[in-house]
Amino acid sequence: MATLCGLEHAPCVVLVFGASGDLTRRKLLPALFDLERQDLLPETLRVIGTARSDLSREQWRSQARDAVAARFPGIDLGDDNALWQRFVARLDYVPGAYDDPAHYERLHQRIASTCLCRCQENVVFYLALPPSVTETVIQRLGESPFAVHGRAGRHHRVLMEKPFGTDLESARRVNRLVGSVFDEAQIYRIDHYLAKDTVRNLMVFRFTNAIFEPLWNRQHVDHVQITAAEALDVEGRGAYYEETGVVRDMIQNHVLQVLALVAMDPPLAGDGESIRDRKNDVFRSLRTPETGDFVFGQYDGYRAERGVDPRSVTPTFAALRVFVDSWRWQGVPFYLRSGKAMSRKVTEVVIRFRSVPLCVLGNREACAAVQPNTLFLRIQPEEGISLSFNAQEPGAGDHITQTHLDFAYGDIGPVTAESYARVVLDTLQGKPGLFWRSDSIEAAWAFVTPLLQAQEQPPPDQFPNYRKGQDGPTAAQRLIREDGRIWLGYRASAAPA
Ligand code: BG6
Repeated sequence: MATLCGLEHAPCVVLVFGASGDLTRRKLLPALFDLERQDLLPETLRVIGTARSDLSREQWRSQARDAVAARFPGIDLGDDNALWQRFVARLDYVPGAYDDPAHYERLHQRIASTCLCRCQENVVFYLALPPSVTETVIQRLGESPFAVHGRAGRHHRVLMEKPFGTDLESARRVNRLVGSVFDEAQIYRIDHYLAKDTVRNLMVFRFTNAIFEPLWNRQHVDHVQITAAEALDVEGRGAYYEETGVVRDMIQNHVLQVLALVAMDPPLAGDGESIRDRKNDVFRSLRTPETGDFVFGQYDGYRAERGVDPRSVTPTFAALRVFVDSWRWQGVPFYLRSGKAMSRKVTEVVIRFRSVPLCVLGNREACAAVQPNTLFLRIQPEEGISLSFNAQEPGAGDHITQTHLDFAYGDIGPVTAESYARVVLDTLQGKPGLFWRSDSIEAAWAFVTPLLQAQEQPPPDQFPNYRKGQDGPTAAQRLIREDGRIWLGYRASAAPA
């Protein structure tokens, strides 16, 4: 039941660590404003920024105005705009050093003095910080007045941005640390792919349409492809990317989350834990990849990027053959690929169904033209769903052609490419379904460990091995051709070579 203090309800304060940083500017503040616009913020909610930068409250409010204006250029954020006035009145700023225990006392006092009753017991701590600083803040929170005997009060929540570790060992360490201060149910780890309408729709598509689920298994599916290709290169973020590479940047998190939504069994119920349980089953069932199950690529020109070692062996592309060792998926390969500087931006899931057992058309040429059905789930861009099938060409001949049942998302409304507002709202409302759980993170890191080990010891002179604008190295084509299959793009209908 809601109380005046909101203790049983939505939090009263979002305390933003990294308040002057890029993520806060690009994502959090516009998202909060978006919720304000939709009248979804609790009336008493306050947003308190903190960072080392010695800003005044007015200066931070002015930064916030710029951040919101950049995201909503059509809205006049002048002083007579009541919406903006309502929003800006929520914002406050407290500068300080993250490792200084006294800073946490000050934050606690500021919250206690500026809000209606007991707000200091009901805070969302938003951490948009580099990993080492995140660890310091969590430790300090555990020692601060926000905690009792080292444990954060039970109404607090922590909202965290990736990376959640850089390998299995560091992920375990961070999980142990955050778990020593917060209960798992209080921890919200963001994967922005799960905030895309089309990614969230994977569950709706699978579990509300009775005709697909009976086919969604090894009896009917030949293989699955998941592509997360980007046309952009590392865009000046060379120093960051050198430490990361495609496995840590995309595969371990976004691509595996999409795979989990495609491969998971139906959850027992719609609550966050039931969904995370079924996704976790998938992460735990991923077969350890062996040499020969994956290939790496690096685009020509990467080594010349600022911040990149001229002999760098960091992969900017990876393709993998993955097996989910479960009853449902035994023997069905999932081919995953992701890379920078590819021909175009495409995130797509392709389900290739099995061929018919026998061609009964009585015509060799017509039979040769028959293709297995293929379902294309286009996450971005041109968001939509398309199912290919065989059809008789009009006319006197016996020609067979492939055609599609097409659905374009835009037809039912504007698509949200990534709804950070949704992420923030779910945190405020205590719905953890969209967020990573600690056991799944560790299972995902365990799965990519052989890839991380292999990328440390690439064969000499392996890179660069693809040109910008190419769809990865030729080795990626070989990987799938070895199995008698090819990469299928949207509307591709070519037979496996
Ligand atoms: C981020 C990666 O997590 O996802 C970036 O760090 C990548 O390197 C981005 O470009 C892709 O996200 P989206 O939503 O543009 O597909």
